Amino acid sequence: MGREIKIAPSILSADLTNLGDAIRILNDGKADLVHLDVMDGHFVPNITFGPAFAKELKVVSKIPFDTHLMVSHPMQYGPKFAESSDWLTFHIEADDNPQDTIKLFKDLGVKVGISVNPGTPFSAIKEFVPELDLILIMTVEPGFGGQKCMTQHFSKLTEARELVEELGQDTEIMVDGGVTEHNVAEVVKAGATMFVAGSAVFRGARGPVEEIKVLKENALKGLE
Ligand code: DX5
Ligand code: ZN
Repeated sequence: MGREIKIAPSILSADLTNLGDAIRILNDGKADLVHLDVMDGHFVPNITFGPAFAKELKVVSKIPFDTHLMVSHPMQYGPKFAESSDWLTFHIEADDNPQDTIKLFKDLGVKVGISVNPGTPFSAIKEFVPELDLILIMTVEPGFGGQKCMTQHFSKLTEARELVEELGQDTEIMVDGGVTEHNVAEVVKAGATMFVAGSAVFRGARGPVEEIKVLKENALKGLE
């Protein structure tokens, strides 16, 4: 049975003076999701977008919003971002009560994901997988776009794939950090069903629409 592979361009790497246009380009460019990197300057050493900003951008988008909360207090900020999100992901490292956060987010009507940092083993989120719509495996330290992919963490994609299949679920498995046209087949082969691409989409020489096309084509090679 064929897995569907989805691309989530991260607008963190887009022209920040023109984010409305970046979203319009993704609308036309066959992106599957818009990946919104939310950073609080505490969980990670960088600050990005707030909830009011996300709401404005969402109005322009015809594509579902996939919000990646890199914040220390997901319970506090999650509800504010849920209004503009279709998928909402928090970090296991930032949360002492993941069960409560999952429930809160679900009650808000969004699809729920948990992310693990490069230094966190997949086993840290294993017990929550039955309740998750998305598992997000980081292959860079969160905080900045344009970093090199830490390929040694691809094995977590396989761990996630095996567990999801064992449970008979359709939980999405997403990879975030340094994905390019050269390694995207490998992440799909390892088990990913969704991939984030920031600089590969917005900083590539061919322009976002063409870069998305190439990334998707190459991603499918991982299923062969
Ligand atoms: C890193 C972010 C990523 C990042 C991806 O903290 O979570 O989503 O923007 O950008 P690239 O694809 O350039 O690594
Ligand atoms: Zn991200």
